Amino acid sequence: MIHLPGFAELGPRAREERMAAFLKNTWYMAGWAHEIDDAIVGRTVMDIPLALFRDYGRAPVALFDRCPHRFAPLSEGSLRGGAVMCKYHGLRFKADGACSHNPWSEKIPASCKVTSFPILERDACLWVWLGDPSEADPARIPRFGFLADSGRRAAKGYTHIGCYYELITDNLMDLSHARFLHPVFGGESYNPASSVKPGQETVTVSFVVEDIDNPEFPECVWPAGGKKVDLWDDITWHAPASLYFETGVKHHGKSRREGWIIPMAHIITPETERSSHYFWGASVERDNPMGNEDLRALLSQAFDAEDKPMLEAVQERMGGADLRSLRPVMLPHDAGAIRARRLLSARIAQEQGDIQAASATQVTAS
Ligand code: FES
Ligand SMILES: [Fe+2]
Repeated sequence: MIHLPGFAELGPRAREERMAAFLKNTWYMAGWAHEIDDAIVGRTVMDIPLALFRDYGRAPVALFDRCPHRFAPLSEGSLRGGAVMCKYHGLRFKADGACSHNPWSEKIPASCKVTSFPILERDACLWVWLGDPSEADPARIPRFGFLADSGRRAAKGYTHIGCYYELITDNLMDLSHARFLHPVFGGESYNPASSVKPGQETVTVSFVVEDIDNPEFPECVWPAGGKKVDLWDDITWHAPASLYFETGVKHHGKSRREGWIIPMAHIITPETERSSHYFWGASVERDNPMGNEDLRALLSQAFDAEDKPMLEAVQERMGGADLRSLRPVMLPHDAGAIRARRLLSARIAQEQGDIQAASATQVTAS
């Protein structure tokens, strides 16, 4: 078994479990960039606790969130010249994880250090890499430029959900649930036709509803003047769980070019096997009549007050079982989510095969 950074600091059992459950060699969104402007944020990703902050030059830093002395969370400490100072006995750690100051001795013990993980800021998001650092290619970070476009304004949110992260992907890849769960997205009148477009590394699902009254969302951002509208949603999934979501509305019978589009990001990061970080953001033109706070509140109603309790109740009923082992009934709109799950499983299986092969090579060589 080869030991990847961070995983080596977990107990053997936790490490084995993480190896089985998650894709490791990938970028995960760890937070919104603004969250660490004035604070140290403690956030767990794939069961690895992280302390997120900015160094002296304002670059983001992700350290293993456990002091090597008496194991206090570093995220509860404070910043001193770009280093984090442990709240318990005052050791300080720099961006690279090395101890920069020991208040009790001139000497710094060799073991006094923590793992530092690659982390980058892109499009108002923080992306962390917890796998093999030599493979952390910044070009593989998914881009959501509309969230940081100075010509637009973005409403961004965060929802903590007590469920396995693929359940949130399933939810987003099958919008038929809006008909029953989300009145602001159309409620009973949201009765879509859907289609799936599989790519090499992506899955796109499209939902179309025609000739309905404009639902509350998008009416508040694109008033239809009492006319009937057509709605479309195109959602593109990238492994492990970054979704680009485009909602469009137009007057019924008109071309899409005459309508209006709101781009959204839905990015999900596994916290543990039973909990997830759900980051969501939408951007509108600067002169859109709807204020950011109102837009945020409207989206929060759907994601925090409607999706979250349902997904947590689903997880509760599933217990610790894997979805497939329960043999779920399949409905036509599930097709996109199933494809996404298959692609992700294949990536994880491939990664584990590579790791086992590397491990076997190491054993043979030693
Ligand atoms: S636990 Fe951090 S300095 Fe003692
Ligand atoms: Fe939903």
